[in-house]
Amino acid sequence: MLAHLVGEYYDGNLEAAVAAALREVEGAYGLAIISADEPGILVAARKGSPLLVGVGENEWFVASDASPLLQYTRSVVYLDDGEMVVLSRDGYRVRNLETTRISKPVNQIDWDLAMVERNGYAHFMLKEICEQPESLCNTLRGHLLEEEGTARVSGLNMSDDQLKHVERIIITACGTSWHSALIGEYMLEEMARIPVEVEYASEFRYRNPVVDQRTLVIGISQSGETADTLAAIREAKRRGARTIGLVNVVGSTIAREVDGGIYLHAGPEVGVASTKAFTSQVAALALVTLRIARLRNLSILQGREFIQGLRVLPDQIAAILQRSSELEQLAERFLSTATNALYLGRGVNFPVALEGALKLKEISYIHAEGYPAAEMKHGPIALIDENMPVVFIAPKDAVHSKIVSNIEEVKARGGKVIALINEGDTEIERLADATFTIPVTLDLLTPILTSIPLQLLSYSVAVARGCNVDQPRNLAKSVTVE
Ligand code: M6R
Repeated sequence: MLAHLVGEYYDGNLEAAVAAALREVEGAYGLAIISADEPGILVAARKGSPLLVGVGENEWFVASDASPLLQYTRSVVYLDDGEMVVLSRDGYRVRNLETTRISKPVNQIDWDLAMVERNGYAHFMLKEICEQPESLCNTLRGHLLEEEGTARVSGLNMSDDQLKHVERIIITACGTSWHSALIGEYMLEEMARIPVEVEYASEFRYRNPVVDQRTLVIGISQSGETADTLAAIREAKRRGARTIGLVNVVGSTIAREVDGGIYLHAGPEVGVASTKAFTSQVAALALVTLRIARLRNLSILQGREFIQGLRVLPDQIAAILQRSSELEQLAERFLSTATNALYLGRGVNFPVALEGALKLKEISYIHAEGYPAAEMKHGPIALIDENMPVVFIAPKDAVHSKIVSNIEEVKARGGKVIALINEGDTEIERLADATFTIPVTLDLLTPILTSIPLQLLSYSVAVARGCNVDQPRNLAKSVTVE
């Protein structure tokens, strides 16, 4: 339709025709348009969908993402909504849909080509899972203030006084990022004692949320381009809230539109199934939590203990990754031929159950549900029989004894229990059909460890079933449409 509309306006000037056509258009687009009549010109335009210009030496590119540009150039110009770029042999020119020429800064991307290649791994997803010791270090780098037992988060652009007096927080995101948001809710409420709500961005944008200047809205997004999350951030700003973004892709639209934020620095994530971005999002939430909690009620000793916990996570993840063959065997034994699976967790590991189930469904097409373990008896327990693998996330935390009872309930109905536990947990070892041990950490940090075996489990199942791990059917890496 757009091609036809541009054609209607075309009378020998492609640039003018595109501008005239787009002035009439509603909705989101990211376009690159050429005309057989003007072979030396390419006109690109964006609204809602990402678009950037690569600036090489006597060559220019347009792309919706920086990754494909890296083999040609690291210099990019990010277009904003309502802007157009005209490329010709002489260079590029940015303008809006009226006639005004716009001067835009050229940004440098600090990713290199090796970061967006598989480097010998069978799949990007596996590479990204294995990168987590490093990606987590990169997220935390420069933020931890050991002596003071707090975090430096100057990118939030909020004074200590503003942070201390935040009355309410809303975290909004989609998919895996929404799961990390739920973990953030547990952290912020427990440590900083601020009421937190977590909202699907797609719901937030279309209801009438109670948001004002006293609300801090945190948007979480790996890509920084998810249409629903971007729209939710814009809605929050329109209502006067202060917005911050926890975003991976530098220069992405959400990163540019929020009032402040933290870049995850997890490196490019290519696999459609989000893995390293998730653990980095949780780490970034931990940083925000630590800063606010220390300004309010957390003691310096508690702050230092939290930092100590964060510091050792990369090594703990590395130790889990070394035992990936155990998870391959569990995948083969319990999940590869299953048609359904349940993931159960409690407290801060309930969102990990949701995330584990999402990882399994999206790359292996096995139907899986994540549930708070105690909710099972209100419905899902009816599904349990000898064909139902049930993955329990059960570290020795404050709700451990409760989850033991839930495991007993599943076993009594013939379900097959695979449990993630801490070493030495003989109680669950006796009950479960199989266990995988994770290192001990602070209760609130357990999701960063418990999510790793679940990522590997899903990966192994998908490979065993011959699925397209990196590009599962019907899914896109960034969802830039509603
Ligand atoms: O780029 P974002 O973090 O905003 O993306 C949100 C979701 O689309 C994303 O997490 C999606 O759920 C992944 N496929 C999950 O692995």
